[in-house]
Amino acid sequence: MRRAGPEIDVLAAALRVSRRTVVLTGAGVSAESGIPTFRDPQDGLWARYRAEDLATPEAFARDPRLVWQWYQWRREAIAAAKPNAAHLAIAALDRLLPSLVLVTQNVDGLHQQAGSRSVLELHGNILRNRCSRENRLTDIDTRGTSKPPRCPSCGAYIRPDVVWFGEPLPPQILAASQAAAGNCDLLIAVGTSSMVMPAAGLIALARSAGARFAEVNPQETLVSSQADISLRMPAGEAFPAVLAALD
Ligand code: APR
Repeated sequence: MRRAGPEIDVLAAALRVSRRTVVLTGAGVSAESGIPTFRDPQDGLWARYRAEDLATPEAFARDPRLVWQWYQWRREAIAAAKPNAAHLAIAALDRLLPSLVLVTQNVDGLHQQAGSRSVLELHGNILRNRCSRENRLTDIDTRGTSKPPRCPSCGAYIRPDVVWFGEPLPPQILAASQAAAGNCDLLIAVGTSSMVMPAAGLIALARSAGARFAEVNPQETLVSSQADISLRMPAGEAFPAVLAALD
């Protein structure tokens, strides 16, 4: 465990006095669970594939089998992954700070697995499937399928219940996230490059409402210069240390 540094104590002190905290997580919080992020230069998913070839409605219409197989491959990686120390510490914080609102861009369900009770999933959840026409969730067994099954009621393809580029975010989840961000006094962005809207817009929303902004990320990001508190380290080190400093 990392020795607590001044920045750890500063974030712990901010959490101690915060009445309404929002934690916004991105792919980096699952990196230490072995799940590739999207934009890490070496092994990010977008370094190996083109997002527009896989994560858009047009890609699915063009080649449903390819898109389905990519999601099946990601689901296998996620099935093998376990929540890491960051997920577990964030879940512990959730129990310690009842007003904490957890908003995630991740679709891997690891926050829930770690024990976080209420997770606002801005981009859906890869472990769920829905009919691509009726949008109704389906519990059809998709294990081992190499092409998308057909909806039993209308015959359209089944698709992962995730938000693709160009698609709207689930309105109620987005509205709840924006309400929380616009009303918080501390927003902590963890493991996100803060490049994708409207998720990244929550940071500006919180700051415009006068909230303090903390960032936990081993790399600089587009919003690092706006952070009041910066923990330039992996989330799996930062959050256990912050939790320990809170005790
Ligand atoms: N701890 C904290 N942050 C980390 C760690 C770690 N151990 N490892 C990597 N990071 C950081 C990287 O430095 C990077 O800034 O996590 C961030 C991951 O950024 P992206 O790969 O862009 O992922 P994210 O910000 O979640 O992307 C947003 O874009 O492709 C879409 O829908 C997808 O939800 C995703 C959205």
